Amino acid sequence: MTRPLAQEQATGRSRIEDARFAHESEEEFARMLDFYNVRWEYEPRTFALRRDDDGRILEAFSPDFYLTDLDLYIELTTLKQALVTYKHRKVRLLNELYPEVQIKLLHKRDYLSLLAKYGIGAAHEQEALGVREVLFSPTEIERRVNELGLEITRDYDGKEPLLVGVLKGVTCFMADLMRHISRPLSIDFMTISSYEGDRSGAVRIVQDLSENIEDRHVLIVEDIVDTGMTLNHLMRQLQSRRPASLRVCTLLDKRVRRLVDVPLDYVGFEVPDAFVVGYGLDHFQKFRNLPFIATVGAEALRDARAPIARERD
Ligand code: IMP
Repeated sequence: MTRPLAQEQATGRSRIEDARFAHESEEEFARMLDFYNVRWEYEPRTFALRRDDDGRILEAFSPDFYLTDLDLYIELTTLKQALVTYKHRKVRLLNELYPEVQIKLLHKRDYLSLLAKYGIGAAHEQEALGVREVLFSPTEIERRVNELGLEITRDYDGKEPLLVGVLKGVTCFMADLMRHISRPLSIDFMTISSYEGDRSGAVRIVQDLSENIEDRHVLIVEDIVDTGMTLNHLMRQLQSRRPASLRVCTLLDKRVRRLVDVPLDYVGFEVPDAFVVGYGLDHFQKFRNLPFIATVGAEALRDARAPIARERD
């Protein structure tokens, strides 16, 4: 087994001002990690991929980021297709030579849609969205939410759960889910700030719970878990308030895009790597009132209501 080259001792935290990023996109990514309070290091380690007979390094790889808490390397691929192929090869070699190292390649497309989600970056300017495909009809949603309610009812036998919804996307789901849980329960809501590009700072609780959760059986109710960074942050916050138990119920799980491994106890549906709207989920506050869940395409953002009106007629 080849040895890794430790270029730099792991410090656990880099500062944007100190890092010399090769690309603007890397700096943007670092800002986003800072916002979510995910500790990172920029190119902290170089891995030897190929050596000659004398042990001299012929080929090496320095992934862009190391996320300390997650023990995960991230390589951003915001470059040409030829380079993407080249990077795929490096990641494959790294996986073979260092099976204990976790690495994720974040493609330009994924990365832009991640930024677009927060309303920044090129994708936001160029891409316009319109409903493309209905993934889950109102009937399918109703059926699945009923099933989740039955499961939760069973699991919380003898307990009185406190459902904590994360506003605003969760409104429809919360309203329906609680009506399918046949146990005494309470509800509460939180609003947390979302990432806004160039602003500094971390995730902020804009509106906190009104209930004390100590010794309570808390069930976080989420609309969708994407990278997992929001939920990870929230869980750490709530856990510090010493609830009797803390579980998570999410309507949608966009598992393919996960960066932080968060435990999900109840999942409605798994969704593909696409932006979805409806049944409470929005895109720039639009589409929340659709009774179904749909993917949106890269068209017609400027007047997002027009395609919807046609879709529903
Ligand atoms: P995460 O921190 O990346 O897991 O993002 C979670 C939050 O991003 C959710 O609570 C949603 O508000 C939002 N989000 C992620 N993906 C989508 C989507 O496809 N449609 C609408 N909102 C989304």
